[in-house]
Amino acid sequence: MLSVEDLSISFGGLAALSGLGFEVAEREIFALIGPNGAGKSTVFNVVTGLYRPSSGRVRFLGEDLLALAPHEIARRGVARTFQNTEVFRTLTALDNVLIGRHTHLRSGALRGALAVASVRREEAAARGTARALLERLGLGEVAGVEAGSLPLGFQKRLELARALASEPRLLLLDEPAGGLNPTETQALMEVIVRLRDEHGLTILVVEHDMELVMGISDRVAVLNYGRKIAEGKPDRIAADPAVIEAYLGSEDD
Ligand SMILES: Nc1ncnc2c1ncn2[C@@H]1O[C@H](COP(=O)(O)OP(=O)(O)OP(=O)(O)O)[C@@H](O)[C@H]1O
Ligand SMILES: [Mg+2]
Repeated sequence: MLSVEDLSISFGGLAALSGLGFEVAEREIFALIGPNGAGKSTVFNVVTGLYRPSSGRVRFLGEDLLALAPHEIARRGVARTFQNTEVFRTLTALDNVLIGRHTHLRSGALRGALAVASVRREEAAARGTARALLERLGLGEVAGVEAGSLPLGFQKRLELARALASEPRLLLLDEPAGGLNPTETQALMEVIVRLRDEHGLTILVVEHDMELVMGISDRVAVLNYGRKIAEGKPDRIAADPAVIEAYLGSEDD
């Protein structure tokens, strides 16, 4: 479904990614791990069109994503969450999800302004879908609450609901368990697996929480200094000497 080939990108002389390649199959849960600064979020920023690599190819369902703008990539069915949770703080939880829904709606800004009957029907349907999504992620009770006043665990789930509102086929999750307690993390793991099992999503996840990574991933790729140093099934990755070395050698881990 997603194919990344020979990807390289530098920032002011620092190589954030060097010749990185990996492939994610449909309905796979694929984890990208590695020490801080390894280049994991950079991969997401390239795949979603925010960063332009100096070389390499990114294909989604056979289509070249590097030729597309971020909103076009979103329309193709790629959605993401951010490492630093980014909800619209002064909007309600429901409105946050409705914004995510807009990449999916047919009506553009002009038709929206005209508020013709078909647009109203579309809006009403969008509200229904947004509410259902909030319910599904356990956020039904806070639909009318300002997003910025919600606890972090709720904000992270809200960001996930917003990403899902665009009805993606590929979901990129950047440290979804960051700042969550073990109970919340456990609940999140179940949500992610359900998205794959019941809704057929393909999921690329960046995460430092090894229980989550080892518990839900079909395969794991390990980055260190922008290079892939290992790839395989979770149990093999956990026992790989190069992986252990990369983690023990980093200050943060
Ligand atoms: N926009 C940018 N400008 C300059 N340097 C950047 C930029 N984005 C990333 N980098 C650098 O590229 C390297 C990889 O960063 P990246 O955020 O991808 O790491 P990461 O693996 O996600 O780390 P973490 O686990 O801490 O989130 C780092 O050295 C980072 O400072
Ligand atoms: Mg990161």
